[in-house]
Amino acid sequence: MRRYHTGRDLSRVQSIPELASLAQRYLPHFVWEYLAGGAEEEITLTANRRDFDRLGLCPRTLQGVQDPDLSTSLSHRPAALPIVIAPTGYNGMLRRDADVLLARAATAKGIPLCLSTVSCASMEQLVEQVPGLNLWFQLYCLKDPAVQEDLLKRAERLQVSTLLLTSDATVLGNREWDRRNFQRPQKLTLANKIDVLGHPRWMAGTLWPHGMPSLGNLDPYLPKEARNAAGAQHFIGNQMDTGLNWESLARLRDRWTGQLILKGVLHPGDAERAVALGVDGIVVTNHGGRQLDGSPSAIAALPAISAVAKGKVQILLDSGVRRGSDIVRAMALGADGVLVGRPTLFGVAVGGEAGAQKALQILGDELKRAMILLGCQRLDQLVGEHPLIEYARDLSGPQGS
Ligand SMILES: Cc1cc2nc3c(=O)[nH]c(=O)nc-3n(C[C@H](O)[C@H](O)[C@H](O)COP(=O)(O)O)c2cc1C
Repeated sequence: MRRYHTGRDLSRVQSIPELASLAQRYLPHFVWEYLAGGAEEEITLTANRRDFDRLGLCPRTLQGVQDPDLSTSLSHRPAALPIVIAPTGYNGMLRRDADVLLARAATAKGIPLCLSTVSCASMEQLVEQVPGLNLWFQLYCLKDPAVQEDLLKRAERLQVSTLLLTSDATVLGNREWDRRNFQRPQKLTLANKIDVLGHPRWMAGTLWPHGMPSLGNLDPYLPKEARNAAGAQHFIGNQMDTGLNWESLARLRDRWTGQLILKGVLHPGDAERAVALGVDGIVVTNHGGRQLDGSPSAIAALPAISAVAKGKVQILLDSGVRRGSDIVRAMALGADGVLVGRPTLFGVAVGGEAGAQKALQILGDELKRAMILLGCQRLDQLVGEHPLIEYARDLSGPQGS
């Protein structure tokens, strides 16, 4: 990754890659690898960026565009930007209370935040500490139906607007770089322990005073003595339902009366099946390149999925969005909005709530500038006939059902 030299002054940060560079310096090596890495050879992680970069943007001139409108509707609620903060687990490793800080940033910017099943803050904590939050909840299907039912009841009690079922992580992707940093689970190698000592700001901002955080949503299901990072990881490792299938989704559709979105779609046949089952939306994603290495980039998979699902359900995309112009590309190919994972995590790591807000500000500003230069006043003008991406046609994801 390119290095930037702006020091620690957030107001000087110009872009998401620059924020990433600051995060890499701020975080210990093992946390950085957890955050930034992908599975195995990182073929998919690399493709996520490469395929966005292959999409050219063709402006229409003399359109007189002034101050484009970036507002939209996500899951039937107004959003100031076509962006959702993606569900990401274990954010407390980046900075103490990172989930709360991300939720505050999302609320300040008028967009939803999707909380992970394996978040450090519980959903109750978030609702209590962040007034006005538009909270979505991401569900990992768990083997114990009583635990899953309780999670759903808690989400209902808190009036979570949207439930997102993640289907691409029934087993953890093969993240070798992550394992290499540990002698055994929860036990860093000596080299990594020494590296941590070289990051006193991270230690003060994360470990002090309680050490590594546990997983707030799961704490109620753990014995008291196991409510810590090790206990929670052991619990979730045993609880993931590897048998998750279409019947599971159908049952969830019957059970959950609110908005239901399936996160983990890359094949148009799966998009069609999810639509037929009555989901309200899908997320075209490869989990940020962290699961099946070799799977297509989300942006390459999107055109074939839009062909079968556009207008029937809400189509969201994530994996590799780093520029406002990437949002343009995704929307031009049929997405109704995007999720961002690492961009706001880079921000919250280096600058807490202000850092996460900075990431969203950058993406919003870039989106606005790109729309002016392209000649689009509104987001819906990005779709369809606008000759936006003349070179897009050679991208091909999976075809047919
Ligand atoms: C550190 C990290 C943790 C993640 N944890 C989860 C999770 O708990 N649940 C989930 O559905 N997706 C998880 N994801 C995937 C994100 O929701 C999202 O799909 C991905 O980050 C998008 O790619 P991007 O990081 O390039 O924006 C995680 C991603 C990262 C980087």
